[in-house]
Amino acid sequence: MCGIVGYVGNKSPKDVLLEGLKKLEYRGYDSAGVAILNGDRFDVYRAEGKLSALSEKLAPVRFSGRIGIGHTRWATHGMPTEFNAHPHKVKGISLVQNGIIENYAELKEELLEKGVKFSSETDTEVVAHLIALQMDDSHDLVAAIQSVIPKLRGAYAMLVVSESEPETIVAFKAGPPLILGVGEGEILLASDVQAFIDHTNKAVYLDDFEIVKVKGAHYEVFSLDGITLKKPVVALDLASEKSDKKGFKHYMLKEIYEQPRAVANALTPYVDIENKRLSFDSLGMQGAPTPKEHLQALANCKRIYIVACGTSFYAGLYGKYLIEPIAGVAVDVDIASEFRYRDPVLEKNAVAIFVSQSGETADTLAALRLAKEKGLTCLSICNTKASTIDREADLHLYMNSGLEVGVASTKAFISTLSLFNLLALYLAQSKDLLTEEEETRLVDGLLALPSLMEACLAYDTYFKEAAQELTNYKGFLYLGRGHSYPIALEGALKLKELAYRHAEGYAAGEMKHGPLALIDQGMLIIVICPRDKFYEKTVSNLEEAKARGGVVFSIGSGDDKQLKSISKHYLGIPEAPWMTSGILSVIPVQLLAYHLADALGHDVDQPRNLAKSVTVE
Ligand code: G6P
Repeated sequence: MCGIVGYVGNKSPKDVLLEGLKKLEYRGYDSAGVAILNGDRFDVYRAEGKLSALSEKLAPVRFSGRIGIGHTRWATHGMPTEFNAHPHKVKGISLVQNGIIENYAELKEELLEKGVKFSSETDTEVVAHLIALQMDDSHDLVAAIQSVIPKLRGAYAMLVVSESEPETIVAFKAGPPLILGVGEGEILLASDVQAFIDHTNKAVYLDDFEIVKVKGAHYEVFSLDGITLKKPVVALDLASEKSDKKGFKHYMLKEIYEQPRAVANALTPYVDIENKRLSFDSLGMQGAPTPKEHLQALANCKRIYIVACGTSFYAGLYGKYLIEPIAGVAVDVDIASEFRYRDPVLEKNAVAIFVSQSGETADTLAALRLAKEKGLTCLSICNTKASTIDREADLHLYMNSGLEVGVASTKAFISTLSLFNLLALYLAQSKDLLTEEEETRLVDGLLALPSLMEACLAYDTYFKEAAQELTNYKGFLYLGRGHSYPIALEGALKLKELAYRHAEGYAAGEMKHGPLALIDQGMLIIVICPRDKFYEKTVSNLEEAKARGGVVFSIGSGDDKQLKSISKHYLGIPEAPWMTSGILSVIPVQLLAYHLADALGHDVDQPRNLAKSVTVE
């Protein structure tokens, strides 16, 4: 995945690059590096580990130049060591990449045959060599890059500097985002506008196979065949998102506590608060007018495809469990990496929904492009405004969760669940399945969610105290039926991500088709069992597990004596209508994973091997 940032201007490139990389650390945090002009050389500094290791290394270093590039890495090819960290320098060429060169092995073979020596295991170094070799012929960085791009297969965004043109950065992309920030006497380049929004709000979004040459405070964008392109400069209406733990031990815990507010922020734009009615008039991009034909397509649709990855996929699955019974619209939910390659047969007049906190997940973006190609109306549910998925969708619902720093998503997930509640009601209303009274009652129920969620935050202390005992379990089985099933899946994912223990989410009714064989004293069965129409069936499944020696931790509604009697641990969420009970049960499963991981001494905010935004396949 990785984050890249470039700077040309009058400020200290070291400071600007480090600040920018800090904002991009969510994209990868196993090593980092910079190449900054010093005299007539680009000096490269790299460090294994978090960005703080690079900052320490750079603290005493002074650079005379006013230009540089930087990188924070999520390893794809080669271990996260200093020698694999970017920038990769070959002769006078230094290069950083966000992405993957899929045919790198073939290209490397050709270079080895020519006698080229490699100093890393990365795919990126191959590109640095290709450009360096090309420079021997063309002596022009843009021309060299133009002839190298056609040789590359994969998805990438790159920044390149050359000691033969020391005032210049050349950047190009095919897949991952790359945005140019146009400031007063300075130019920045980054994977995410947040890396430069403190310096300028004027942005140029580069498209695939475009090349930008930045020289001093000027820039020029070319097509691959050298034609100069006029690109719009967008004035971004975005504030710098400051990360601050606000006294919490971790960002994740702070973000769990922010969830009541996040849900209120997600609901408010789509509800007429005073009259407790739905208000779906503003599905345009960031306040732009709603494209009427697409809104019509949504209102009339008979089938919906929801496509996403990771936690967002489970949010999508939750959407299916709401939309089908409430609005009578058939919903298919797909993992984006499967959807894009399985030649999906898509019904005409269907609507496709893409859920993505970051708005940049490569597979989700590719799935959106496929659905658009097939003529479907595409609705995005994103947290990051002006992200690629947001910009390319036809209709937009915003999570409005604010900056989410913890790699394991919490508030964005819960905000999405609440948006699916609204969407299900909107679709039911469009199909005349909802009376005004019902609409008002259900909207009122949703608006009550934040205060019920506040009550669930009290489980923080409970899990803090229980965590040590929970470390004794080697495995965790999460069970649920109906809309508690996606919550069970999300609970298991959170535990895997954070505590590095084996956890699986299962539909409770599937227990007897395999998982029962796993039951022993070392496996904790966590069941989400609110008082809904599945209650008795789920309790029967628990009895079956109990009869085989299973240890049960149940999350039920209120003071449920029956559940208590079969459980070693019991937690009662507030009694709530079916539509909203699912959201309430998310909080305990998040807190369980958080406190268990913390008790095990893990880095909760930046779990090993993961990244928050996945811009490679
Ligand atoms: C990564 C993150 C997850 C996230 C998933 C999808 O795996 O670690 O927390 O759910 O990507 O990301 P998106 O930004 O598309 O929601």
